[in-house]
Amino acid sequence: MNGSRCYCILCALVGLALVILLFGMPAVVQAQPSKGPQGPVSFIKDIAPILKENCFACHDAKKKKGKLEMMTYENLRKGGTKDDPITPGKSKESILIDMVTSTGPGRMPPRDTGDPLPKEQVALIAKWIDEGAKLDAGIDAKADLLRELRIRFQPPPLLPAYKYPVNVNALVFTPDNKKVVVGGYHELTVWDAGSGKLEKRVATRAERAYSMVFLPDGKLVVAGGRPGQEGDVRIYNINAGKPGMVGGVPTIDGVNDKTVFLQELVQTEDAVLAVALSPDGKKLASAGTDRLLRVWDLPTGKIEHTIENHADWVFGLAFAPDGKHLATASRDKTAKVWDLTAKESMLTFPDHQNSVYSVAITGDGKLGLSCGEDSQVRQWQATDANKQIGKQTKVVGSHGKAVFRMVQHNDPKNPIVATSGADGTVKLWNPVAGTALKTLSGHSDWVYAVAISPDGQLVAGGAWNGEVRVWKVADGKEATVFNASPGYVAPAVVKAPEKK
Ligand code: HEC
Repeated sequence: MNGSRCYCILCALVGLALVILLFGMPAVVQAQPSKGPQGPVSFIKDIAPILKENCFACHDAKKKKGKLEMMTYENLRKGGTKDDPITPGKSKESILIDMVTSTGPGRMPPRDTGDPLPKEQVALIAKWIDEGAKLDAGIDAKADLLRELRIRFQPPPLLPAYKYPVNVNALVFTPDNKKVVVGGYHELTVWDAGSGKLEKRVATRAERAYSMVFLPDGKLVVAGGRPGQEGDVRIYNINAGKPGMVGGVPTIDGVNDKTVFLQELVQTEDAVLAVALSPDGKKLASAGTDRLLRVWDLPTGKIEHTIENHADWVFGLAFAPDGKHLATASRDKTAKVWDLTAKESMLTFPDHQNSVYSVAITGDGKLGLSCGEDSQVRQWQATDANKQIGKQTKVVGSHGKAVFRMVQHNDPKNPIVATSGADGTVKLWNPVAGTALKTLSGHSDWVYAVAISPDGQLVAGGAWNGEVRVWKVADGKEATVFNASPGYVAPAVVKAPEKK
């Protein structure tokens, strides 16, 4: 286990880097010579991805190093302190080629920040300039290039077998309590909760799922994205579509098949981290790296609220039982409760003093629970009883390390909250009494995702090493274990030869 990991942007980026290492470059990065050196070079397909990977970090609208901004074709051609860095038809006279091939101190990207561009990429840029440095037909010179690249992004085809285990960021039980849907790499995977058998794969545009919830009609809402690149909230029917086989498993197309991928509620510029459904099933909320809280009225599909209330990423969301209040957990070190009717913040709970990852509101609406980087599960007043709103009532317990997720099962007779953490355990609590019920162990890595079955009988934890464990709530016994990475075979443990 790696003790320095945390659930933050750095990790998202490290995670992305890992994914790139493990699975090969994402398509956008890979978008090198799409037509090979023969056909004409396309700016948007061939050149813009190179600029994005190597140059945008310093030449975006904020930093504008050398007064050069290249987020649009027009601005790239305007140049910075110098003239247009491109001389169409004449790559040898172009400042840009000069700079990326320079062996002196003026090289781009600067020497201290990275390697020079590979020769093939330089050759491609030179060819594009020699061909006239044209912008592709149909794209406005003022168009934001990141957006244009996002529109053109195509998820890579699914791997028949994973070479490395996937990090489980989200899982959810199906409404019949029989299956577990797990977020994979550009897919969702559906496993039998009893046997641990992989039953179905659903290809998705999103590289990762961060949060999932089933709607009353059996459709699945998934929030996710590609860290640092895009995010979305999409609705799927995972029981539709004509399955093909990938790696010997029936696989449906949640990217292009409109019977499987039903609707995109929102697309954002970075990952969406959380979704929550109101108890009556009519309102859906999402939140994430853009700090915005969005609430849709599902029957009409209309967005009802776009709320900016947190100063940093929102990791967790939960509706109060009345469906009119929404609790949030944020990297800004607070949990908050938002009143959807009054459109104002009701309370701020500041006691974690570090990133808050998840929240819940008890079935009677009176108490809030939250957990986070400070390793504690805390309970607080969610109503104005005795003017104590937002005051901590109890430290319910601790994982000893960061607590990543919290889910609840609001059975009035037997309310449960399950939390999962960096200590490799899932813990069950009585959220009202604020007492510990059980500690479920067996995971050997950080448990990032946790879910309770709709009937309250099963709880599942999904770990960084791909492992999913399902336990029975009643006796804490393990029901099944599987690695949620299709076709993955763990390397045999090679024992060191015994010393004689
Ligand atoms: C780590 C930051 C950084 C990265 C990454 C970077 N640049 Fe620069 N760039 C600069 C700075 C700083 C200057 C200003 C240098 C100066 O004026 O001496 C500059 C200047 C330039 C200029 C001259 C602008 C002008 O009109 O004066 C060009 C052209 C340029 N960069 C192209 C690129 C390209 C192409 C890439 C990617 C392959 C790139 N840069 C990546 C920091 C960066």
